Amino acid sequence: MFAILSDIHANLEALTAVLADIDRHGVERIVCLGDLVGYGPDPIACVDIIRERCAVVLMGNFEHVAISEPGRFSDSARHSFDWLDRLGGYKERLPFLANLPRSHQEGGFLYVHGSARNPLNEYVFPEDICNARKMERIFALVDHTCFCGHTHIPGVFVEQSADDLYQFHSPEEIDYVYQFDSRKTIVNVGSVGQPRDSDPRAGYVLVEGELVRFRRVEYDSETTIRKIRDLPDLDDFHGDRLRDGR
Ligand SMILES: [Fe+2]
Repeated sequence: MFAILSDIHANLEALTAVLADIDRHGVERIVCLGDLVGYGPDPIACVDIIRERCAVVLMGNFEHVAISEPGRFSDSARHSFDWLDRLGGYKERLPFLANLPRSHQEGGFLYVHGSARNPLNEYVFPEDICNARKMERIFALVDHTCFCGHTHIPGVFVEQSADDLYQFHSPEEIDYVYQFDSRKTIVNVGSVGQPRDSDPRAGYVLVEGELVRFRRVEYDSETTIRKIRDLPDLDDFHGDRLRDGR
């Protein structure tokens, strides 16, 4: 059994709770799909833990911006990158972040942060199933199964078959378990540190054989929210949104 997590966003309380859940399941290997930093109050601790615990760590768009072009971000996000830059220990961790791969292929699975077409930056939202052209191009680059993050919205995209359109299944709809079949599939593993599907619990997936299990884990979000409020360089909104998972 292995675990896949994404979008930690410097939320140490959520990451700690997810790793405790992972440790209860006899997981052999953890893959992280990126966005370790940004938004949250504990980037250094989260980078160190992910580095130690994960067999594979991909670059997210946040790592990419942090190492290359913070100027491109909005004011409040740029502010948080300036803060990151001044943070003790951050510069020492930059070479690790700068050298993360953008995609990984192993055991018939493709792993990316965004999409198979644009591993760093492309969002694939549930409503994109109505955009057949977009989905067709992305699925064309997937052999059978792709795992991604980036939207912070977990779920399963299934390719179009002869009499069916593209489908998206939210974890609740499928009782938090999906079984692969012969159709191509893209699994969004959701977000550890900033879920945006109206469920504030930290999210990740466990994979065993043909089964994907969507896990949701309660964590002490009030501590994270308080830490964000106490840091003037971080926008309070990034804390407040954790309460409702938006
Ligand atoms: Fe993210």
